[in-house]
Amino acid sequence: MKKIAVLTSGGDAPGMNAAIRAVVRTAVFHDMEVVGVFQGYQGLIDGDFKRLHVRSVAKILGRGGTILKSARCQDFHEAEGRKRAHVNLVEAGIDGLVVIGGNGTFTGAMKFGRETGFSVVGLPGTIDNDLSGSDSTIGFDTAINTVVEAVDKIRDTADSHNRLFFVEVMGRDSGFIALKSGIATGAVAVMTPEMGMSIDDLVAVLAAGEQSNKTSSIVIVAEGDPNGGAYEIAKRVQAKNDTYETRITVLGHLQRGGSPSCFDRVLASRLGVAAVEALRQGHTDVMAGVINDRIELTPFQMAISNKSTINEDEVRIARILSI
Ligand code: F6P
Repeated sequence: MKKIAVLTSGGDAPGMNAAIRAVVRTAVFHDMEVVGVFQGYQGLIDGDFKRLHVRSVAKILGRGGTILKSARCQDFHEAEGRKRAHVNLVEAGIDGLVVIGGNGTFTGAMKFGRETGFSVVGLPGTIDNDLSGSDSTIGFDTAINTVVEAVDKIRDTADSHNRLFFVEVMGRDSGFIALKSGIATGAVAVMTPEMGMSIDDLVAVLAAGEQSNKTSSIVIVAEGDPNGGAYEIAKRVQAKNDTYETRITVLGHLQRGGSPSCFDRVLASRLGVAAVEALRQGHTDVMAGVINDRIELTPFQMAISNKSTINEDEVRIARILSI
């Protein structure tokens, strides 16, 4: 393998730049050429390529976002779009591709690789942590630290006014961000798609908190919770008990920005090296991840379909410590 391409796709995540840097430098280290593809799969279809050198990725290790830009590309869902992408790669003399992203990115990569026979290796880049094959995804650690910093501030004002706050965090179909940050901030309750807490359960938990003289309470709500978002849940709690003075904060895209944590920089660096070396060894259709501190390759199909499950022990811990 002499020339590879790298792209970032889907929602950006802190640490994507560190991963791009590691891919570029590892390729150059092994005497390979590297091309950056802009705007994710859209750039593959449009041939939006640019040669990257060792210095093209200088000083990006600590920068949030992605220098290659990112997008969710509708055209890549179609066989026609994937065919055009393949033609562009072949014409540019590229023989391997590293994709950095989440579920949607790997679904596209899997189809593309199988239809064209092109070699593709993935890196898990999403704040949601909802992939199997890696204990943590690139960006998750930074995102939970951002949430903790924000919720600590909310706690100050919540406590000053004896208020009940509902804080909505990201995680489209998963509650990893909510659960970890809930434990770390001493939330009275955590609502996630996996935990299945009903409004009645929540009302009972809040009542118990009042009885034990809690002066402020914070409920962390994962955006994908089936009871609704923070606004809807707050409304339903109020309908059952209107004695609370409630406030709502939706943290939103704040969680996706910022300089990556040390953990994410190291994870992205390790995985960037692993992805290039995996391509060189002839691997394809796999995601590189870290499991129990070891690099492991997981087929795309498994990475996206066996969604890693929420840690039941953490659920138990969150409940015990919120009394
Ligand atoms: O997948 C990452 C994520 O941040 C989710 O947590 C969130 O639901 C989604 O992306 C938001 O996507 P967009 O930035 O396209 O609105």
